[in-house]
Amino acid sequence: MNTTAQAIEALAQETRRFPPPSGFAAQANAQPGIYEEAERDYLAFWESWARKLEWMKPFTKVLEWNEPFARWFADGELNASVNCLDRHVRAGRGHRIAYYYEGEPGDRREITYGALLDDVCRFANGLRKLGVKKGDRVAIYMPMIPELPVAMLACARIGAAHSVIFGGFSPDSIVDRVNDSQCVALITADQGWRRGNKVPLKANCDVALAQTPSIRHCIVAKRVGDPVEMQAGRDLWWSDVVAGQSTTCEPEHMNAEDLLYLLYTSGTTAKPKGIKHTTGGYLTQVAATHKLVFDLKDSDVYWCAADIGWVTGHSYIVYGPLCNGATSLIYEGTPDFPDKGRLWSIVERYKVTILYTAPTAIRTFMKWGLEYVQKHDLSSLRLLGSVGEPINPEAWMWYRDHIGGGRCPVVDTWWQTETGSIMISPLPGITTTLPGSATKPLPGIGADILNDQGESVPLGGGGYIVLTRPWPSMLRGIWGNDERYREAYWSKFPHQYLAGDGCRRDEDGNYWFMGRIDDVMNVSGHRISTTEVESALVSHSKVAEAAVVGKLDDVTGQAIVCFVTLRGGETGSKALADELRAHVGQHLGKFTTPKYLTFTQELPKTRSGKIMRRLLRDIAEGRMLGDTTTLADSSVVKELQERAKLEAGKDEG
Ligand code: PRX
Repeated sequence: MNTTAQAIEALAQETRRFPPPSGFAAQANAQPGIYEEAERDYLAFWESWARKLEWMKPFTKVLEWNEPFARWFADGELNASVNCLDRHVRAGRGHRIAYYYEGEPGDRREITYGALLDDVCRFANGLRKLGVKKGDRVAIYMPMIPELPVAMLACARIGAAHSVIFGGFSPDSIVDRVNDSQCVALITADQGWRRGNKVPLKANCDVALAQTPSIRHCIVAKRVGDPVEMQAGRDLWWSDVVAGQSTTCEPEHMNAEDLLYLLYTSGTTAKPKGIKHTTGGYLTQVAATHKLVFDLKDSDVYWCAADIGWVTGHSYIVYGPLCNGATSLIYEGTPDFPDKGRLWSIVERYKVTILYTAPTAIRTFMKWGLEYVQKHDLSSLRLLGSVGEPINPEAWMWYRDHIGGGRCPVVDTWWQTETGSIMISPLPGITTTLPGSATKPLPGIGADILNDQGESVPLGGGGYIVLTRPWPSMLRGIWGNDERYREAYWSKFPHQYLAGDGCRRDEDGNYWFMGRIDDVMNVSGHRISTTEVESALVSHSKVAEAAVVGKLDDVTGQAIVCFVTLRGGETGSKALADELRAHVGQHLGKFTTPKYLTFTQELPKTRSGKIMRRLLRDIAEGRMLGDTTTLADSSVVKELQERAKLEAGKDEG
């Protein structure tokens, strides 16, 4: 069933309602009245949250809106690392644990706010000594080890913007990202652990570094310990960079609108977009939403099981939790190592109270079965979150019943790399939740559902989700490409931010997300552009043309389906299909390896030569075909349908 149909069905049939448990509601950070307060004056609402940060120079202006460019708190100055660390230490909370760390092999560390501040200062001093300065960009390509947030915060301390590249990406992806923003340094590790295997991070960097002339230094943290190549003059061990450095480091005074970081995400072209996030507004909203949506208390042990390489990790492992002085957990590895109960053993060991994970993970746990869950005591949990993709009601109920023991509110949080923080989500002490719905926009947020004409769709209907007013953690644009920023988000409807998702609203105004409406796939919560996969395919010498679409998948949400024509009219083979799938993985990162690949003599095209993606999607999903009269050669469809059926059959068998 496709996502749209799923959402419609969920909407039609979903009669289950879960009001917040009364005990939870009574103690919740967000109390009734907060929506009305924010609605009365949304600027005053955000201002009050911004005033909770520590400013080196207080702001006097809240918002300057020069559509589509926002400046929040623009005459204020602050430093993100000071807000995440120094102010907690100064307040006598230096002994509080910032991170419990568990490596995949089982090694453990406890890192207090005091120790984290020391580490950040030493590394920041080391970076400064290497000549990294305010306004520079620094690339970070690391496993989930404590040095990763240290590196991010050290950049923030000296005013350099970080650009974290997920450790699953390939050397080519590093090259594109580093060169786009001209990073001056690359921070990595020798290797990382993943499902018992060693991920060759430094070796990947070495391949990339041959094509990234802007990088002056590559700093390498030792994680695994195998020997790696070190190029004299360019490559430095982390331990040497921090050796002899002081544990105090004067933080740069940053303007609220100075760049905090870039994070690349897939759009509808082959070139990823460097999403810009700045300092004051971003911190304001990640801290506010982290406190309200996760109901954070001092007694909580909070665990966001995402990777810091994605926006979820930036906002809800690093900046939000640290701003709020939270005690969080970082786990390096996969959930099935050494067995499928690893996450639950971690919840039990650290008495995790708040867990935030993705629907793909939840569906995987469902498939693995309850035996792994039931071996562990999960009674410490009091709140569950979901993010990254639409969550189907069945997975939502399973999460609530079997992980949350029926007692924990479930918050399904909708947002994007571009929004910086959670936009549509229940507030756990207030909102009555429905399985499969992200419920309503958070206080201060304006959202609507529009039809093709740009008219608001009445409750009960579906269309394009838009955001109707600026918000503090919104993207400030795309690195080096204001035009693409306008075009991608602000051109379809006047004065409305187009998120790129389809969504329906029920009669009570609850939002039900239905997936992307553009050429972006969502595979296990990772955004992958169909065009990027297509360019990876055509970079292979045997491929003439390729078309890529997403197909619904029970576990990963969507799976990648490729239709390929070969040069010289070749017909292809199983071996070549495997080779091409691996080729994509090598090109873009293993997590992008397509699940299905079908060869065809011809791709279905309109007479003007445009590939008919919707048709391919229908074929991939085995749906009835719509109107194909605009096809240049309609026999192509028949052939493709037959082949796709064969592929699907293979999968089931
Ligand atoms: O399609 C939506 C989906 O993920 C997209 C954003 O992806 P990314 O920028 O990688 O950020 C993911 C983590 C915030 C959205 O356009 N998405 C994210 N959360 C949800 C969701 N779809 C439905 N429900 C969600 N809770």
